[in-house]
Amino acid sequence: MARVFNFSAGPSMLPEEALKTAAAEMLDYGNTGTSVMEMSHRSAAFDAIAKDAESLLRELMEIPANYKVLFLQGGASTQFAMVPLNLIARNPAKKADYVNTGTWSKKAISEAKKYGTVKVVATSEDKNFTYIPTLSKDMFDQEASYAHITTNNTIFGTRYRELPDTGSVPLVADMSSNILSERYDVSKFGLIYAGAQKNIGPAGVTVAIIREDLLGHELPITPTMLGYKIHAENASMYNTPPCYPLYISKLVFEWLKKLGGVAAMQKINEEKAGMLYDFLDNSKLFKGTVEPKYRSLMNIPFVLPSEELNGAFIKQATAANFINLKGHRSVGGMRASIYNAMPVDGVKKLVAFMKDFESKNS
Ligand SMILES: Cc1ncc(COP(=O)(O)O)c(C=O)c1O
Repeated sequence: MARVFNFSAGPSMLPEEALKTAAAEMLDYGNTGTSVMEMSHRSAAFDAIAKDAESLLRELMEIPANYKVLFLQGGASTQFAMVPLNLIARNPAKKADYVNTGTWSKKAISEAKKYGTVKVVATSEDKNFTYIPTLSKDMFDQEASYAHITTNNTIFGTRYRELPDTGSVPLVADMSSNILSERYDVSKFGLIYAGAQKNIGPAGVTVAIIREDLLGHELPITPTMLGYKIHAENASMYNTPPCYPLYISKLVFEWLKKLGGVAAMQKINEEKAGMLYDFLDNSKLFKGTVEPKYRSLMNIPFVLPSEELNGAFIKQATAANFINLKGHRSVGGMRASIYNAMPVDGVKKLVAFMKDFESKNS
């Protein structure tokens, strides 16, 4: 079967070029006579893969030298616990500020509450998370150990257009669903984390980028494996890392670099999202669910006027090889996740399909 356009929220499409390279190298990586899956993580061949992955990510995100780049396991959900375990005791009051912009923020908040005092400084729950609350410096407790945001809200399709000014409080960001999709100034953050399975690579590897001065404040109960410092001291090789996902991530980073890096990718993402939003804004049948100012470049939820039409659209789209367009149950309708690896052509064809659906159903 031909490859389809996969609009899944994650795991999602990977660049074909990376998959082809992986396929070609599957049985014999670089004349080692083994696949990357079968290699010791202490071997010279794997060590080179890990080092390349790190240096490519540093280059792509322009990560300053005083930040450690960690490749961990456990997904972004494990970071919900690792963040407070490692950071909340920076200040003896053990306080942290969180902004609640959706399901994933909520999960981060409830996990952090186990380890200290959490203040939700703002929430957009009153309008089912269709916007990002306005934030100002005075809303953040200057004695908080850190302030946490979710830069892109995968389920509700919102994103921060500007970062909050948290004063001297380190900003921590869950960037799982928009890392590498647009430029960020890493120096504005104390910590960035992201599960890989949207813009980085396969599920199984989790990236954490942490400013060095934030290392070493673990709560005494922190399990060894959940401390950032031990992973930083061991270059993410304290134990066996997620070798194969890390290798695929390296191939994805190479693809992104060749394409022109994050700035070039951002332009393409703006073009892709722009096509879909333009169509939604001009459609009499389809409607976007997010306040225009806060629209995500990655996850675009939309609805039709009835459940019958939503169902018919998803069914017909699937038959036409536009798969995984069903929206999350908390929003309903449809959601098109158009991460970095979704080709421009995929969005173009989806919009043409939506136009055709509209003309047949109006
Ligand atoms: C913004 C965000 N945070 C966290 C998660 C959870 O990630 P994981 O499944 O890697 O734990 C997701 C998953 O989709 C997400 O989109």
